[in-house]
Amino acid sequence: MPQKPILFSGIKPTGVPHIGNYFGALKQWVDLQNADDKECFYMIADYHALTSVQDAAQMRTLTEELVATLLAIGIDPERVTIFKQSQVPAHTELAWIFNTITTMPYLMRAHAFKDAEARDKEINVGTFTYPLLMASDILLYDTNVVPVGQDQKQHIEYARDTAEKFNRIFGDTFTLPEAYILPEVAVVPGVDGQKMSKSYGNTISLFASREEVEKGVMSIVTDSEGGRPENVYAIHALLKPKVELEALYTEHEGKYKALKDALIGDLDAFIAPMREAYQTAMKDTARLTLIIEAGNAKARKYSEQKMQVVRKAIGTIS
Ligand code: TRP
Repeated sequence: MPQKPILFSGIKPTGVPHIGNYFGALKQWVDLQNADDKECFYMIADYHALTSVQDAAQMRTLTEELVATLLAIGIDPERVTIFKQSQVPAHTELAWIFNTITTMPYLMRAHAFKDAEARDKEINVGTFTYPLLMASDILLYDTNVVPVGQDQKQHIEYARDTAEKFNRIFGDTFTLPEAYILPEVAVVPGVDGQKMSKSYGNTISLFASREEVEKGVMSIVTDSEGGRPENVYAIHALLKPKVELEALYTEHEGKYKALKDALIGDLDAFIAPMREAYQTAMKDTARLTLIIEAGNAKARKYSEQKMQVVRKAIGTIS
């Protein structure tokens, strides 16, 4: 049987996702897994998170919560490999090799680095070389496709450039990956109408309780004119087919309270099963550990084989 194309993505353990993260990126992970035409690797990027999460207890909790989150949204560890970056040494090993073929000015052009610089932060070296660790993540698995949000596009270009440069210097070794960015993943608006983002404090958590959903929806900013509260509608559009939505908003034209109540009902119905699955998953942390360890072992095996090829190519082994 011909080998399936490889799909790879990663996510940092930096906090429980909100519905914007879900519709913007994570939902794709589930859909692509279910398409079943690719071999999927989903990585918890804990070493990337270490550039900002520098507290052991917090790192443990956030990582555990992220594994439970992935299971709760429907990622199936029987069908895909879920693993932790830090437990697969090839990632940092290859990142070092990439350090040696990459120039400083090239990395200085990275958006993330420039943003950090603009905010006048003391930038750690890990943040500076972040794109090369990410290139290693992707290239170690001969990845063909990388599903990501729009904000990660440049990082995929870094991975491609790095693969090409390595291949030019040491001979054909790495597959060039393609970014997969859903065009229809429009920006998910937050309760204030701006892009939903943790840093704006306008989010609704993916595992919000009924009360939190109510609070979140009631706080959605609506302007007093027009029959249709656009900020309510935009979030509602993620949950309901357009025809049904149009009918609902026509029926309740101008009645913002009724429309918000409808959104609360739909949002809660959407969240409830995932919220329950999340709580169940968090109760069985032994299971979470087993899942990750099985994934780590698979990822280690796969990447170690690739590293043998890389080591030969650069001449550190014969
Ligand atoms: N940088 C990505 C983010 O912040 C996370 C990530 C790390 C990743 N390694 C990856 C994504 C490899 C795709 C492929 O979202």
